[in-house]
Amino acid sequence: MFGRRTRATSLLLLTLLACRGVRSDEPGTRADAYVVETFMRASLLSRFDRNRDDELNATERVALREAFGRIDVPMLPTKPYRYAVEKTPSHITASELRRTDNTPQDNPITHAGAALGRVLLYDRQLSKNNTIACASCHLQEKAFADPLQFSRGFENGYTKRNAMSLVNLRYTILRGTEPGFFWDERAPTLEAQVLMPIQDKVEMGMELEDLENKLNKLPYYPPLFEAAFGSSKVTRDGISKAIAQFMRSMISFDSRFDRAVAATGGNDYSEDFNVFTAEENLGKSLFIDGVAGVTEIGCAHCHIPPTFGMPKSFNIGLDLYYVDQGLGVRAVSPNDPFTSSNDGKFKASSLRNVALTAPYMHDGRFKTLERVIEHYSDGVHPHVNLGVAFNEESTNAKNTSGFRLTQAQKSALVAFLKTLTDQSFLVDPRFSDPFVRLPD
Ligand code: HEC
Ligand code: HEC
Repeated sequence: MFGRRTRATSLLLLTLLACRGVRSDEPGTRADAYVVETFMRASLLSRFDRNRDDELNATERVALREAFGRIDVPMLPTKPYRYAVEKTPSHITASELRRTDNTPQDNPITHAGAALGRVLLYDRQLSKNNTIACASCHLQEKAFADPLQFSRGFENGYTKRNAMSLVNLRYTILRGTEPGFFWDERAPTLEAQVLMPIQDKVEMGMELEDLENKLNKLPYYPPLFEAAFGSSKVTRDGISKAIAQFMRSMISFDSRFDRAVAATGGNDYSEDFNVFTAEENLGKSLFIDGVAGVTEIGCAHCHIPPTFGMPKSFNIGLDLYYVDQGLGVRAVSPNDPFTSSNDGKFKASSLRNVALTAPYMHDGRFKTLERVIEHYSDGVHPHVNLGVAFNEESTNAKNTSGFRLTQAQKSALVAFLKTLTDQSFLVDPRFSDPFVRLPD
């Protein structure tokens, strides 16, 4: 599409050039003294691994920090990781993926760009007092969600909503619509999203100009920017592009669900899967085909496979009167023809890895998936903006508009949701913390 191979080759060249650190145009920066290579695992080990056991123990880590002026520094893979997607998983059609891809023309994923994004996402220097990184609230072992109901920011303040998981953010254009990012969709693009938590008064508290100045002075950024964008100058534009590239590379298509689809030899998930238990197949059928076989009242009407993301915000009747109106707070016209306002409408993140992302909903009100299913079955309030999935026929007598599920159906749905967990995503070193940390 973008002439990938040539692009990759020239990037490799750029990286190599940057590694040699020959640069005279930036006399004010300390970039000349340091090169990407300095931060590669092999170089750092050769300098600081005194006892030659191929890792850095506590004493060696302290020495390393001292050498770099008492800052956390990243340890980069000696052989750079590859980030740009090389092949489409066999069970997902390439055209289907392409339709959902939100990658902008001017910011394709490159290996060097995403590698820089990884360092930025884990860097606590992005917050005002160097205490909070994006990854402080987005934990890899939790599929980049936060187990806390509300996350703590740089001055220990609480966020207003539950942190969202970060997965397959590259593929968000569904049914032809491109929802914004965040529970209330306020960030139109991933590039725009990145700069918001950095400047948020609770989350990271930085001014963008201070951020640029601060990062320009850190030894590892100028060479990483040079490798990624061909200029060693740290800019807000580069920061947002690199983190967006990294997040777009965080792809998860290797769950039990995916393997089961792949095992059918096609990309059809309407039939029962051989490798699923009867309960998981029942859950899949309820989720995808709908309760009583009516797609309109199926979960997949809103959480669309194979990404399990949402095309836009919906109201699911969590309350009759919402404290947080979600999309309703923003000055945008109603997002469907059936409702007169957007009050109580929210956009959830992808349900992939959802078994790990508790607590649930925009305010983290439910601790377990069982509790979520109880809501859909028996707890839906008849809010005026309820999604069409909760239609008259599915309304039950007890003043709710739920799906009316039996106990067996509830358990089956939970069992199915658990098949969306992708273990490899949770431990993929490409998405892990690159920084050499001192033991707590
Ligand atoms: C203090 C905790 C905290 C920090 C730090 C933080 N986030 Fe978040 N993140 C959240 C919360 C809370 C939400 C949901 C906010 C909302 O919807 O209003 C969120 C939502 C997101 C989303 C939206 C996902 C979606 O599906 O729409 C993305 C992307 C994201 N964060 C990326 C980042 C990046 C990149 C950084 C660092 C530059 C970062 N976050 C820093 C807590 C945090
Ligand atoms: C009308 C659209 C719609 C339908 C149908 C629907 N959902 Fe949801 N779902 C949402 C929205 C919107 C949210 C976020 C609501 C909020 O936080 O206010 C959500 C949240 C969730 C969450 C929590 C996600 C998180 O990250 O916290 C789970 C799990 C979930 N839904 C599962 C299901 C299941 C299972 C079904 C079928 C029984 C279903 N959904 C049917 C729209 C829908």
